[in-house]
Amino acid sequence: MEFSDFGRKLSSHSGILQLMDDISRPLPPGVEPLALGGGNPARVSAVEKAYRREIESLLSDGDRFEDVIAHYDSPQGRVGFLKTVADYFHATYGWDITEENVAVTNGSQSAMFYLFNMFGGTASGRLRKILIPLMPEYIGYRDQGIEEDIFVSVPSKCTYFDDRTFKYSLDTDAVSKYLDEHDDVGAIALSRPTNPSGNVVTDDEIHILSELAEKHSIPLIVDNAYGLPFPDIIFAENAEPVWNENIIISMSLSKIGLPSIRTGIVIASKEIASALSGMNAIAALASGSMGPVLADNLIRTGELVRLAREEVRPFYKKKAEHMEECIRRSLDGTDYYYHRIEGSIFVWLYLPSLEIPTLEFYSVLMKEGVITVPGEYFFFGNGSGRYPHEHYDKCLRLNYSGSDHVTEKGLEIIGRKYREYSHYVFA
Ligand SMILES: Cc1ncc(COP(=O)(O)O)c(C=O)c1O
Repeated sequence: MEFSDFGRKLSSHSGILQLMDDISRPLPPGVEPLALGGGNPARVSAVEKAYRREIESLLSDGDRFEDVIAHYDSPQGRVGFLKTVADYFHATYGWDITEENVAVTNGSQSAMFYLFNMFGGTASGRLRKILIPLMPEYIGYRDQGIEEDIFVSVPSKCTYFDDRTFKYSLDTDAVSKYLDEHDDVGAIALSRPTNPSGNVVTDDEIHILSELAEKHSIPLIVDNAYGLPFPDIIFAENAEPVWNENIIISMSLSKIGLPSIRTGIVIASKEIASALSGMNAIAALASGSMGPVLADNLIRTGELVRLAREEVRPFYKKKAEHMEECIRRSLDGTDYYYHRIEGSIFVWLYLPSLEIPTLEFYSVLMKEGVITVPGEYFFFGNGSGRYPHEHYDKCLRLNYSGSDHVTEKGLEIIGRKYREYSHYVFA
């Protein structure tokens, strides 16, 4: 038996596989698991109630339930749902779109896989690349290319503040120079809010990227899995969703209550939405119907957006503030920084004096039951070896959506172990 290149590449040890494995791996007996790794969102009861109500209405409405489960949707998505989404964004943001601009996938992870391989990979005999304009970026992209080395990237700039926080920003000159000097870039892509850092690329930065993409006749892909208008896990100002014919927006229902149901929503030009539909037909026949069925009414009436704004965002805001308190308490007296929590469900902790790489520190913490994600995985697109960013092996990504106890105890252990594995002279 021999795997193809594709089979080998996609089944090999990937960061995302480790992440998914770690979530389910048993710890040594007697060690309490403190899960700060993974990307699981929290349960928000008001959102759950709304979905429960939608399911109950589906079940009690004649044979509508049987009708939903007995048919495939179209490869582009459930027709009524495509229209609901297009109408909502047209009415709310004035975007000039119809249902032909929308495509539904089995989660936004699949959407990004389709898009990366639509614009990255060999075309007319040349390997086309996906440019990530701000590293670090989402671990889940790094192994998604069917062909090797489809990602290239530019390190983010970083500004430090007096309150031990920092913020990444776009190195506009470097991105612009890269594009001028390389004509093999097939698309620019980024997440906003960004997983892992919680950064929200500003409206100005998005406009710069959009102009650069247009100048080079390539699309800009914006992964809006945590953004507006839903799930709205976004605390920064100036973060309006932006769309034009040259921008592809990818959204998800995962962080607003439905991670297990797998629903991704893409808004793009008609040509790209139709190409996604074609890919989805080949890879999956169709996407699952249940997410669109549960969310249709909620999007049409504006309830999903209200829930996002009034329930989901405040829920995560509180969790984020608690995480900040725990960081400050547990790391007080050490040299630490964390990225301003502007969105997403993660905090990105920078430990400058760590004597070992976070890939090793992660194992030290794991033995104590603390599951984190080491930062190295979030730097890619520079061939192999050390990524040229001062944060490369000094950051941990922590999910703050778990219970307060997990955050408190997890941070206490991180603080203790950091002191042990640090060359800093502590106060
Ligand atoms: C930035 C980002 N994009 C996409 C995804 C994939 O989400 P899903 O496939 O559940 O929609 C995630 C999941 O955590 C994410 O963090």
